[in-house]
Amino acid sequence: MKLIRRKTDLRAITDGWRRAGETIGVVPTMGALHAGHLSLVKAASARADRVIVTLFVNPRQFNSPEDLAKYPRTEDSDAQKLAPFNIDLLYVPAPEEIYPEGFATTVSVSGVSEGLCGAARPGHFDGVATVVSKLLLQTDADCAFFGEKDYQQLQVVRRLARDLDLKTEIVGCPTVREADGLAMSSRNARLGDTARDTAQIVPRTLEAAINAIARGAPAADALDRARMALTDAGIEAIEYLELRSDPDLRLLTTADEPARLFIAAWLNGVRLIDNMQIARQTPDS
Ligand code: PAJ
Repeated sequence: MKLIRRKTDLRAITDGWRRAGETIGVVPTMGALHAGHLSLVKAASARADRVIVTLFVNPRQFNSPEDLAKYPRTEDSDAQKLAPFNIDLLYVPAPEEIYPEGFATTVSVSGVSEGLCGAARPGHFDGVATVVSKLLLQTDADCAFFGEKDYQQLQVVRRLARDLDLKTEIVGCPTVREADGLAMSSRNARLGDTARDTAQIVPRTLEAAINAIARGAPAADALDRARMALTDAGIEAIEYLELRSDPDLRLLTTADEPARLFIAAWLNGVRLIDNMQIARQTPDS
């Protein structure tokens, strides 16, 4: 695995792969890698001849300087975690490779980026869309891998790839969870032991609600019960708990079309997000 920090070095290598007729799979990350990220790396290795993991903590997608400052930076241990996966390149661009002086372009996706995290974090998806566009172009990606954990982000990226005629195929991968169901996240480490234990109420409650809705319970009742369960268990604030259409993320009141339940909640100063698909009822179920 080679570590590359300059886009000219990156291009020299990808051009060689292209001439040899090889395909390139890319996994964009902000580092602090865990099993969720590594599942994307596995998927990329199974699909493409060459695999690039990118590691860039993108300042433009953070809403507060404190959150950006607190974001874990663990490049050495990230490189160690990637070693067994036999990837070709770890691309860790220097900031000026992404935002050179005079940089003035923003990629902004409307529709799917509104609501949910887009409402709570103004400008966040512009930052994501801009950096992902650049990373896919810089790496010359044939396919790129994103987690369903950040389902709205996945839909934003799918939309920008289609709208900008990128050649990159966007591949969504299932959420990887801890043994108690909590979706893996680089931010979980900041919970502390007690809150970490409490946090399992998030996937549990989500699961109970999607099952109730799939069995035909009115969504409003299921969501009310879920809010109560979360608050009783010690969740400090529920930023949103919403039923949305899948994949275009319109707000729904009933799940009579493909739908997902989305949550963002705060616990011990940490923002937890998760989402789960509502199972479709078959005619004889
Ligand atoms: P980051 O939070 O590092 O996540 C990188 C990728 O890993 C994303 O596609 C995310 O959805 C996926 N991922 C995170 N936790 C996961 C889990 N538990 N199961 C499956 N996949 C998971 O998302 C970003 O970085 C950034 O916004 C980025 C796309 C790199 C742009 O800066």
